Amino acid sequence: MNILIDIKNLTVAYNSKVVLDDVSFTVRQNDFIGIIGPNGGGKTTLLKAILGLIEPVSGEICFCDELNKKRGNIGYLPQVNKFDSKFPMSVFDVVLSGLASNKSLKYGFLKKDKNRVNEVLAQLGIEKQSHKSIGELSGGQMQRVFLGRAIVSNPKLLILDEPDTFVDNQFENELYKKLKDLNENVTILLVTHDVGTISAYVKSIACVNRELHYHQSNIITPEQLASYNCPIKLITHGSVPHTVLQTHQPHSNKH
Ligand SMILES: Nc1ncnc2c1ncn2[C@@H]1O[C@H](COP(=O)(O)OP(=O)(O)O)[C@@H](O)[C@H]1O
Ligand SMILES: [Mg+2]
Repeated sequence: MNILIDIKNLTVAYNSKVVLDDVSFTVRQNDFIGIIGPNGGGKTTLLKAILGLIEPVSGEICFCDELNKKRGNIGYLPQVNKFDSKFPMSVFDVVLSGLASNKSLKYGFLKKDKNRVNEVLAQLGIEKQSHKSIGELSGGQMQRVFLGRAIVSNPKLLILDEPDTFVDNQFENELYKKLKDLNENVTILLVTHDVGTISAYVKSIACVNRELHYHQSNIITPEQLASYNCPIKLITHGSVPHTVLQTHQPHSNKH
């Protein structure tokens, strides 16, 4: 498969505190990679480095030509912690803003852009909320809106940072099914804590904890995680995905 992003020896630090240390990682077309790891392990930092939002200390991130052509080729759903309930932006406008990077503001949005937004809202079942303020929504509805914003430009690569935070089980399953459908045409990087559920959907898994360990398959064993200090609950799927609870002592390899 074609390489979309080639990351070589990437080191990222905040105020000289190294958060990602000599990470090398390749993303290929049609990958669906689940990125897991402990809180503070550097998952969000890795995504931000890929998006060019953080300047690395050293290393390279090479994009294939296809991704370089225009910015709308990458859709991003940032990690949401808390949202100001008074934030004065409508659902429609939030999704529309996902097309902003394709535009010169001088020309504004076209009728076809607005039609595309309505199409995405309908696809995600939030068309009735179109004129509501984003802050009035439930967690699940809000994540739908942010997913809408990330996919509205028909990106080639979708980068999602914990889209399953604040969502109910029903939406979580819908979300993963939707991502699986999108993955026919779109490459996906998905940060999540819920490895038990996603192992039925993703194709491979990357553990990020200062270093990055890539697992070619969507099943990794508790032993592999343990040796990596990865306090994640895992981990297998057959016809019914299920989770095996595994607690780790931080910074201990003894299990
Ligand atoms: N803007 C920042 N300034 C300083 N330190 C940061 C900043 N963002 C993240 N960090 C630190 O970098 C480490 C990795 O953070 P992050 O990439 O958000 O981890 P994760 O997404 O895996 O929880 C943490 O120790 C965090 O406190
Ligand atoms: Mg994070």
